[in-house]
Amino acid sequence: MFILSQLALDYVGIDDIFHGKRVSFLSHLIAKEIGYSEEDINDIIFEGLLHDCGVSSTVTHAKLINELDWENSHEHCVRGSKLLIDTPIFKKYAPTIFYHHTHCNELPKKTDISIRERANITYLADRIDILIATGRTVDEVLKILEGNRNTLFYTNLIDAFLKVLQKSDPVNIIKDKDRVEIFFEKGKEEIPLLARIVAVADIFQALAQNRPYRKGLEPKIIMKILKDMAEHNKIDGAVLYIVDRNLDSCYKKALPEIKSSMV
Ligand SMILES: [Fe+2]
Ligand SMILES: [Fe+2]
Repeated sequence: MFILSQLALDYVGIDDIFHGKRVSFLSHLIAKEIGYSEEDINDIIFEGLLHDCGVSSTVTHAKLINELDWENSHEHCVRGSKLLIDTPIFKKYAPTIFYHHTHCNELPKKTDISIRERANITYLADRIDILIATGRTVDEVLKILEGNRNTLFYTNLIDAFLKVLQKSDPVNIIKDKDRVEIFFEKGKEEIPLLARIVAVADIFQALAQNRPYRKGLEPKIIMKILKDMAEHNKIDGAVLYIVDRNLDSCYKKALPEIKSSMV
């Protein structure tokens, strides 16, 4: 779980390899409540997993400008969307990732409403996760969200989250890594292969890269950790088998070319 001291180093979440899964989980609940189609919910699941793919491995301190925002937050969005646009299978997610920290009242009207709304769902889920991870209670989170209706977050998305809270207990679920994993495990049949690949790639890359508190891990150690996760059904064993057979090239791809960029 993200702790406050780690957050002081990184307001985005790269130090926590499960941040993407929690955002994905929360986003899918909100999208489901709004009534999104199955296909759109799948897109939302991907976007949650991918949303911080533009975060560099070497992070300088970010300066908070309020509880939900920080200076230059848009930089990792731009970087992430550029990465995705260059990858044919992920290209369709580039616009959403580009806007995933844009306030709803600043989203360009010329952009398709579905992209604006999906980007704002990711933004909302991302900030809920960060607020909870830094020790806010549900009431405190709701108060902050209410104060940002129609400025940071679309009002229908906040309303959808309120309804989700009435029906289930998402906050306690995201506080428990195993319960989030159960969601991905249960949905294994429904979660498309691409999402399972992204989940393995996300963890592989996080373990391979340097972090403010530890050095990147060697391929053999990464595989040991991942195999243990696969044995416990936390990641897809078949996807991991492919990684194992292409370990050298996966490792090279996981390491950033530029090590000095900032979030
Ligand atoms: Fe994030
Ligand atoms: Fe982000």
